Amino acid sequence: MERLFLLCSGLLVKTVTSQHNVCSRPELQGNINMTGIQRFFSPGVELALSCKQGYTPVLGPRKIVCTMNGVWTNTKFNCIPKQCPHPELITNGELFYENTVYQSTINYTCHEGYTMTGSSSAVCQANGTWSKPAPECIRICIYSQGELICGG
Ligand SMILES: *[C@@H]1O[C@H](CO)[C@@H](O)[C@H](O)[C@H]1NC(C)=O
Ligand SMILES: *[C@@H]1O[C@H](CO)[C@@H](O)[C@H](O)[C@H]1NC(C)=O
Ligand SMILES: *[C@@H]1O[C@H](CO)[C@@H](O)[C@H](O)[C@H]1NC(C)=O
Repeated sequence: MERLFLLCSGLLVKTVTSQHNVCSRPELQGNINMTGIQRFFSPGVELALSCKQGYTPVLGPRKIVCTMNGVWTNTKFNCIPKQCPHPELITNGELFYENTVYQSTINYTCHEGYTMTGSSSAVCQANGTWSKPAPECIRICIYSQGELICGG
């Protein structure tokens, strides 16, 4: 009976001590992807870092290691959004955009008297290209009483 008790308290001490040394799941900036899904990691475990879709890695190192005292090694690794090229102006229309990074939007309008062919908006995609080419603004012409009347 006494032996069993000792065995149990021995196990208890061991569990508490090892929990003290594990690393908790690291809190990483939102655009960093890492390997490993568990909440706790043993000393010596390495986690590889990468960037989510649409983001580019900068600086390093690209991994962190759980140290003996339960803290992760430092890294300056960071993920910055990809850039799409600056859009060209369009003839007989306007474009509106605030940024050219991943997930930014460009809106296009045509001047009065012109009609749009193509898409009125484009989004910067994960690979750094715009989802749609710029539209064209075409002059609107109508026949009225045998005459061709054009807008603009
Ligand atoms: C990020 O991690 C998730 C889950 O592990 C994975 O499904 C996804 O493909 C990863 N994305 C990139 C860009 O590595
Ligand atoms: C583009 O149009 C959408 C939908 O009308 C609007 O929510 C967004 O703010 C516009 N963006 C810009 C940069 O004008
Ligand atoms: C970029 O991604 C889009 C959407 O996934 C795809 O249609 C297009 O072909 C890609 N362009 C290049 C240059 O990889």
